[in-house]
Amino acid sequence: MTGGAGFLGSHLCERLLKDGCDILCADNFYSGTKENVTHLLGNPQFELLRHDVTFPLYVEVDQIYNLACPASPIHYQRDPVQTTKTSVHGAINMLGLAKRLKARILQASTSEVYGDPVLHPQHEGYWGHVNPIGIRSCYDEGKRCAETLFFDYHRQHKLEIKVARIFNTYGPRMHPNDGRVVSNFIVQALRGEDITIYGDGAQTRSFCYIDDLIEGIVRLMESPKEFTGPVNIGNPQEFTIKKLAETVLEMVGGTSALVLKPLPEDDPRQRQPDITVAGEKLGWEPRVDLQSGLEKTIAYFRKSLGR
Ligand SMILES: NC(=O)c1ccc[n+]([C@@H]2O[C@H](COP(=O)([O-])OP(=O)(O)OC[C@H]3O[C@@H](n4cnc5c(N)ncnc54)[C@H](O)[C@@H]3O)[C@@H](O)[C@H]2O)c1
Repeated sequence: MTGGAGFLGSHLCERLLKDGCDILCADNFYSGTKENVTHLLGNPQFELLRHDVTFPLYVEVDQIYNLACPASPIHYQRDPVQTTKTSVHGAINMLGLAKRLKARILQASTSEVYGDPVLHPQHEGYWGHVNPIGIRSCYDEGKRCAETLFFDYHRQHKLEIKVARIFNTYGPRMHPNDGRVVSNFIVQALRGEDITIYGDGAQTRSFCYIDDLIEGIVRLMESPKEFTGPVNIGNPQEFTIKKLAETVLEMVGGTSALVLKPLPEDDPRQRQPDITVAGEKLGWEPRVDLQSGLEKTIAYFRKSLGR
């Protein structure tokens, strides 16, 4: 697994260890941390390797989960050239490895391939509405190019590929300062700081709890060979950002005020997955509602921030 020390990766490592797999977790700790996987280090079936996926990796494995890539705007915009390299060179290197080993490979793609969508909700047949030269492009276009590479390796080299288009996911072990909206709101509320809403808060998002997401990813990897995706994995229940802020504040308590700030460039107005394909092909749908997911996430941040 590349990117295994990140938010999603650490949960996926846990899950696969429970399923009895041996895991080689390769990560350069750019946005992930050793702490995310420290509790797994004593397990003889778990191995941690410091590795940057923009360089080739020579190992022996049966399956590859390619998750390496900073996922939050703060992290991926800090070094945009490296972000594109991670997506594109990383995909080339891992696809090369999969080709040599004849291993099945799964790509953690993203709803960002749809850009600022003009179609709502987004289904997998929609080609997207993406700015190729904006500040989000290093991530969006990097992920789009990675998808292209996956499908070309599939057509040209008969590789077994799986492409998951992941929508906003939240849960314990999100980075506290990476600017993602759920963690931002929770951390601000716990610290008693103002809760910052970018724009008027009327833009909507849908939020998937980490356990649901991991179940979808594992089902995709284990799905029949012919099914490549891309498949949307996310929670279609839609909330305005303002509603999310109010819910978090109500659950955390405290006296934080909601403060509006200008919307960043190319921020999508709406994002909601059409998960029909995931239902039909994987028998998957999300089960955790926002309230219970937030409870677990708030409990995690309370503990880690000592609040
Ligand atoms: N969390 C979400 O809501 C979400 C949504 C859509 C897609 N995704 C995708 O899922 C994957 C995991 O996201 P996450 O939320 O866990 O983010 P994250 O930043 O917590 O994890 C990414 C991991 O990749 C590692 N990494 C970054 N560049 C690397 C490189 N060059 N070589 C090796 N490792 C590298 C980081 O250190 C980190 O551990 C990413 O590919 C992301 O694009 C996540």
